[in-house]
Amino acid sequence: MNSTPCITLTEVSKTFKLGLFKSKKAVDNLTLEIPSGEVVGLLGPNGSGKSTTIKMILGFLKPTSGEILICGHDVENRWARSFIGYLPENPRFQKFLTGNDILRYYGKLLGLHGLKLSKKIEFLMDLVNLKHACNERVQGYSKGMTQRLAIAQTLLNDPQLLIFDEPMSGLDPLGRIEMRNLISTIHVESPKSTLFFSSHVLEDVETLCKSVALLQKGKLKTFASIDSLIANEQQRYEVVIQNLSKELESLIFEKCPQKTVAIGKSFSVEGTEKLSWVLSKLLETQTKVISINGQRKKLEEALFRANEGLSMSEVII
Ligand SMILES: Nc1ncnc2c1ncn2[C@@H]1O[C@H](COP(=O)(O)OP(=O)(O)OP(=O)(O)O)[C@@H](O)[C@H]1O
Ligand SMILES: [Mg+2]
Repeated sequence: MNSTPCITLTEVSKTFKLGLFKSKKAVDNLTLEIPSGEVVGLLGPNGSGKSTTIKMILGFLKPTSGEILICGHDVENRWARSFIGYLPENPRFQKFLTGNDILRYYGKLLGLHGLKLSKKIEFLMDLVNLKHACNERVQGYSKGMTQRLAIAQTLLNDPQLLIFDEPMSGLDPLGRIEMRNLISTIHVESPKSTLFFSSHVLEDVETLCKSVALLQKGKLKTFASIDSLIANEQQRYEVVIQNLSKELESLIFEKCPQKTVAIGKSFSVEGTEKLSWVLSKLLETQTKVISINGQRKKLEEALFRANEGLSMSEVII
């Protein structure tokens, strides 16, 4: 395992000048280390500084202050940037070219040619599930297909670091699922490469990432592994009960919120201790339990708790 972090940001800030006397601090004293070989999500509401951070990591924007290293090398170094594959927020291609033409064009720019390039294109078109459309002009591609073609383009030079800015944005539910599957496949295919992607959607980050960084107004609010964030969250259970006596209903309701469902009452029980207590009461009275379902611990709740002082809308995006 390579111990040099794939991305190191040290006290990085970026201020945009908006006129003679006005400026906007888009990124504020950001210190972050992204380990090699991990999938890391960058979360934050609109305008929190995600794209600005990404553009600085790519060397497109110069930080106002601070230092950025890619695999230990200064981002100013062109060689360091050759390790990176980048998916922009809204990828666009020449509409009259086919998917294959586009990959061939970018492949040649990267110095690939001949049989090696043809084989690479075939492999990548298959990987991103565009084999069927490889000879179609991209003007006929859907948003999801264009996004997948752009991902194939990022993979042409086998990058050690992949940076995707909002890879799921604008996709319909099926497109999102396809994109998530594709990101997982990429990580499985090249487990040593690092993937850093921004998103508004907690669920995408929760499903794909090992760690998450949360930005708010340009400042880093949380950077932690998802496991450690949700480890302190109590597991919640949904217990559905039929023919509950009024006394027992009000006793359980005192501790656990309830709702009426078609087959009876459903209680939301937090933690194993409360669950044992509810079950003991039900056993004592020989009340029929229809089902007990463990509900997924929620990253949004963990982030909310880890960031007391943030309003829920600043965490749930
Ligand atoms: N070139 C620029 N000039 C001036 N202000 C900018 C520029 N780029 C970004 N900003 C401002 O910096 C802040 C952060 O913008 P950024 O695009 O990084 O946010 P974001 O988290 O990517 O948002 P979104 O989720 O909408 O993509 C915003 O207030 C934005 O208006
Ligand atoms: Mg953005």
